[in-house]
Amino acid sequence: MAVVLGQHSPPAPHAADGRLAVDGGNPVRRTPWPTYDKGAVFVHPEDEEAAVRAIRSHLYFRYDQRAQQETECGKLEDELCRYFGTTHALAVSSGTAALALAIMAARIPPGSLVACPGFTFVATPSAIVLAGCLPFLVDVDENLQLDLADLQRRWTPQIKAILVVHMRGFAADMDALTRFAAQVGVPVFEDAVPALGAELRGRKLGTFGLAGAFSTQSDKSLNCGEGGFLVTDDRAIFARAVVLSGAYEGRFRRHFPDGEPPIDTDLDLPLLSFRMDEIRAALLRAELDRLPIRLERFRSNYEYVAAALADLPEIAIRQPVAPGAYLGEAFIFRVPDGDASWFAHALCCEGIDARNLGSAADNNVRAFWNWRFVFGTEDVTATKARLPNATRYLQQAVDVPLSSTLSVQDCDHLVAAVRRVAAAIADNRDRPARAQPR
Ligand SMILES: Cc1ncc(COP(=O)(O)O)c(C=O)c1O
Repeated sequence: MAVVLGQHSPPAPHAADGRLAVDGGNPVRRTPWPTYDKGAVFVHPEDEEAAVRAIRSHLYFRYDQRAQQETECGKLEDELCRYFGTTHALAVSSGTAALALAIMAARIPPGSLVACPGFTFVATPSAIVLAGCLPFLVDVDENLQLDLADLQRRWTPQIKAILVVHMRGFAADMDALTRFAAQVGVPVFEDAVPALGAELRGRKLGTFGLAGAFSTQSDKSLNCGEGGFLVTDDRAIFARAVVLSGAYEGRFRRHFPDGEPPIDTDLDLPLLSFRMDEIRAALLRAELDRLPIRLERFRSNYEYVAAALADLPEIAIRQPVAPGAYLGEAFIFRVPDGDASWFAHALCCEGIDARNLGSAADNNVRAFWNWRFVFGTEDVTATKARLPNATRYLQQAVDVPLSSTLSVQDCDHLVAAVRRVAAAIADNRDRPARAQPR
C-alpha cells in the first residue's frame, strides 16, 4: 500500500457531459502537482539542523586542518562506502563532474568514442565531452533501454568505454552489458544519477561497472541542491579522481589514511575544482540516515500507480529489466497508437505535470536530436534517422515526475487523470479529429 501522507479524497468528479479538462471540463485536481522545483522535497528537521551545525562551524572547505575522518565530506564518503559496499567514494560538485571524473580517471584517451544510450539526460553526453571524448549514441528498445543489438551491430574499435545510464530510475540490463563489454575489452561506467538507492537483483545500481556516478541535485534521492559522488573499487581510478577533483598540494593523501596512495604527485593531472563542500556533505549525511524511508515512498507510490493502470490497453507502461529494478521517481508510459503530445497536454490540463519526451513543440533536453553540440548543424531529420527507434519511442513517451512526497490522493489523481485521457482516446479511436493536440 502506498504511503499515506495526506487526506485521502476522491478526484474531482467528471464534468456532467464527461468532457476532459482540455475540452473545458473540470480538471481532476486544481492544486499544483508536487515537484522538487515547487519545493516538494523530502527534507526532515534533522537534515536542516545538520546543515545549520555545519554553517555554525565556519569550516566549509573539506581540506582544512582537520583529518579526513573528522570532516563532513570524509564521514560522508565512509558512509557511502558502507551503503554501497564499495571500497572508495568521492564526494564532488555534481553528477556531471562525477561522470567526467570517472572517464578521465580511467584514462580513456581524449578523442575516443564513448557509447551511451540515445535516451538520457543531456548531462551524459555533456560529461563525455567534458572528459575530452565523443559520445557514440546507441538506439534504445521499446522500454527506452540501450539496445545492445544496435551497439553490437555498429561496434567500432574506436569505442573505448560504455557509459550505461539507469535513466529515470530504471536499471539498465547490467548482466548483458557487462558481459558484452568484457568480450570487447572496454570498461563500463554507470550513470546512476537518477537511480540512487535502486537495485537490480539485490545489487545496488552504480556498483556493477568500473565506477558509478551519482548526483545529489534537488530531485534526486539525496538532495543538497547541487552535488554528486563517485563510487568505485578501483584504487588507482579513485586516486586520480581525487586529484582531478581538486585535492591539491598532496591533499589526495588524506584519502588513503591506511596506506600509500597509488600515485606520488598531484601535478601530473589537471586539478579541476570539482570538490564538495562541508555544508552540503553535512546535509547529505543526515539525509542518508533516512534514505530507506524515501526509497520506500518512491517504490510504494510507483507500484500503486503502475498497478492501478496496468490494465489500460491505450498505454504501454515502461517495463523493468527485472522485477522491482527501478527507483520509482518517474512514471513513463508510451501511447503507441495515439498522440502522446496531446496525451501529455491533456494530463497537464487535468492538473498533472506530464511531458511528451519527444514532443516537437518542447525543446526537451532528453531528446537526443536537440543536442546540437553533438550533431552541429546537421538537419534534425537526419539526426533522428540515426536512431530510428529512440526517435519513435521518445515521440510516443509520456513522462510524469513522481516526487517521494506524493500522497495517496496525489497518486489517485494521477490514476484518474490517465484513465480519463486514455478513455477519450478509446472513444475517439474511430473519430481521430477530436483527440488532436491543441
Ligand atoms: C541521467 C543523468 N545524468 C547526469 C545528470 C547530471 O547530474 P548533475 O545535474 O548533478 O550534474 C542528470 C541530472 O539530472 C541525469 O538525469
